[in-house]
Amino acid sequence: MGNVVVIDYGSQYTRLITRRLRELNVFSIIVNADVNLQEVRSHEPSGIILSGGPESVYAEGAPGLPEGLVESEIPILAICYGMHLLARALGGVVEPSSLREYGKAILNEFDGLLFKGVEGDFIAWMSHGDSVIEIPDGFKVTGSTDNCPIAAMENANKGYYGLQFHPEVQHTPQGDQILRNFLDAIEADRSWTPESIVDSLTLNAKKEVGEDQVLLGISGGVDSSTLGLLLHRAIGERLHAVFVDHGLLREGEAEEVEASLRDLGINLTVIQAAEQFLTALSGVTDPEDKRKIIGAEFIEVFNIAAKDLQKKFGHIRFLAQGTLYPDVIESAGGDGAANIKSHHNVGGLPEDLTFDLLEPFRTLFKDEIRAIASTLGLPKSLRDRHPFPGPGLAIRCIGEITQERLAVLRQVDHIFIDGLKEFEMYDQTWQALAILTPLRSVGVMGDGRTYEHTIALRAVSSKDGMTADWSRLPHEFLATISNRIINTVPEVNRVVYDITSKPPGTIEWE
Ligand code: XMP
Repeated sequence: MGNVVVIDYGSQYTRLITRRLRELNVFSIIVNADVNLQEVRSHEPSGIILSGGPESVYAEGAPGLPEGLVESEIPILAICYGMHLLARALGGVVEPSSLREYGKAILNEFDGLLFKGVEGDFIAWMSHGDSVIEIPDGFKVTGSTDNCPIAAMENANKGYYGLQFHPEVQHTPQGDQILRNFLDAIEADRSWTPESIVDSLTLNAKKEVGEDQVLLGISGGVDSSTLGLLLHRAIGERLHAVFVDHGLLREGEAEEVEASLRDLGINLTVIQAAEQFLTALSGVTDPEDKRKIIGAEFIEVFNIAAKDLQKKFGHIRFLAQGTLYPDVIESAGGDGAANIKSHHNVGGLPEDLTFDLLEPFRTLFKDEIRAIASTLGLPKSLRDRHPFPGPGLAIRCIGEITQERLAVLRQVDHIFIDGLKEFEMYDQTWQALAILTPLRSVGVMGDGRTYEHTIALRAVSSKDGMTADWSRLPHEFLATISNRIINTVPEVNRVVYDITSKPPGTIEWE
């Protein structure tokens, strides 16, 4: 007991509800709207949150409450569409509407348990069509706005709360206080901390793996490095980590990653495959072709490594992967239906190499990975490393990939990234990259005319890489970096800075 189950009715904010609760140290999990009560109970909830959703409760086939939920006496916080469902189920009246109210609203009046400790005006983010116009018996109205007389309702005796607005979004600045009050009311278990996550992940990994062996591909990114360290602590030598150096990494990166992982005691095999990858990529300019070739080569190299390890150490039962919760939610729209089959072939591995999947992070968010990385003592250089794409510099070297062009790109990238670190801007930036364009242009240097390459620099802020804004790096900083590049890399005579957000641009150029 002590958890919170979020039933997902399709709101774009459902994931945010879960995140907010976890930030408040309560474990919460998302389930699909078609969940049954038994499954809800299996997550040991002290309370349930019904999310918002795009439908009207009057729409044909609109999702409903799990059968028996309101008889179960589990406390409920019902948001927007959820509030309409709850109100109707308990005898209230919901008015259908074809018009949507969207945006900020101020509550004229508010009181009740959920608003305890709220200070000053309460600004609420609204996004709804239908509204509750008559509350069920036993409820009282606890908040109203000009447009919405029943913006909040509660029956604290029963533990039922309804909100027409969204407490989980930043546009409801005191929404956290509402969630905190709900968690207090249901006496939620506040022990979801990085330390407790590490403890339970370690325990579960030990239990699941037993005496078997585990294979893990490590890229040097934070997810796989953290997973490596966690599993190493849980099962020691029976973890076999494989790091493939495909020759498309940044300056010094392979050495740095290898040294850090070995320092941590992780049982690591490094495969030097640069030549193989570069030969396969020779003459290829199409970005999709590059990706396909790199994917195929990677599988080939990984297979050989896996088979070698099996020969040396005997049967390896598990393949560990750093799958995160957003991948799970996105691939199947909720945890309930999202159980990836455990005994199957992964990403093109051949028939004779089958593994059981081990995915300890499949209920975790990226920021939780960073937090447990700190708890585990993963070095900062790995923990706070910017995301780096699997195909590496291949997709930042526009056009043909040659040793020479990669060398230019590496030097420039190094100057840029080092500069960000030197001027303490690296950690504030989600990701920064240099791109070698196929464009050459005329310049003048000393007394001579040059005809050299154009480099693009890109830095973005983002939360998850899905959307991003270009970083407003100080002009002085950009000037310094541009000078350093041109003065030290003779093949470059022009530096441009990318000021495109995502969308419409992507982060990588390709
Ligand atoms: P885009 O360019 O699509 O990138 O805006 C979003 C984020 O994903 C990273 N990225 C990749 N990561 N394999 C990866 O592991 C890939 O093939 C890949 N392509 C893009 C990109 O660096 C950014 O962080």
